[in-house]
Amino acid sequence: MTRQFKVDAATAALSLVEQGMKVGLGTGSTAEEFVRVLAPRVAQGLSIIGVPTSERTGILARELGIEISTLDSHPQLDLTVDGTDEIDDRLQLIKGGGAAHLREKIVACASDKLAIIADHTKKVEMLGAFPLPLEVIPFGLTATSIAIEKLCRRDFGLTTALTLRKVAGEPVITDNGNLILDASFGRIPDTKGLANGLSQIPGLVEHGLFIDIADIAFIAGPDGVETISSAPA
Ligand code: 5RP
Repeated sequence: MTRQFKVDAATAALSLVEQGMKVGLGTGSTAEEFVRVLAPRVAQGLSIIGVPTSERTGILARELGIEISTLDSHPQLDLTVDGTDEIDDRLQLIKGGGAAHLREKIVACASDKLAIIADHTKKVEMLGAFPLPLEVIPFGLTATSIAIEKLCRRDFGLTTALTLRKVAGEPVITDNGNLILDASFGRIPDTKGLANGLSQIPGLVEHGLFIDIADIAFIAGPDGVETISSAPA
């Protein structure tokens, strides 16, 4: 059922894609559904160039016959469609569950519009139940971790357990050669403040808070697809 909701959300986002667009392609299972629903439109003659946010999305898009390119070749995109780990009704997001949030944020910020697609389980009242992904460079990992914990406690009253993300006992290495720390907060009342604070820490390349970046979201559930838009009605 959840898969069908992802397909429904992805299909809704297709309405934003127009002939000749340069389209950022997100990462994760929901973003992959978007690539899958986009591919038949391309086969039918829709001409777009896709800019993937991860190696794995690029491989899938190429396999399905979508022309892909790089952000360096196309530094200004019309639209990016991506998934999320959490979203609130102000279009604030936590991303990075797939360890791709650094490239996702670069691509999103180079796009005229960021459309988020998600199933209804991603919608929350307050961000923070999902551990916040932090991409950190391997050099000075312990010092960086201490700086993060100190900032969170001192400036935001947040105590956090930082966990080095591992798969099969080995640290996850991002497409950029970095590590991921997951910060469990439970709830993040001051998302903007925390995002700004974390951005000041050297060694922390990018955090997974997306504040004032998304423009529209399609959230699919048993009652249909809810659209949340930042534009005035
Ligand atoms: C990858 C992401 C993904 O968009 C996020 O993890 C959602 O993934 P899924 O659609 O598989 O639930 O941010 O870094």
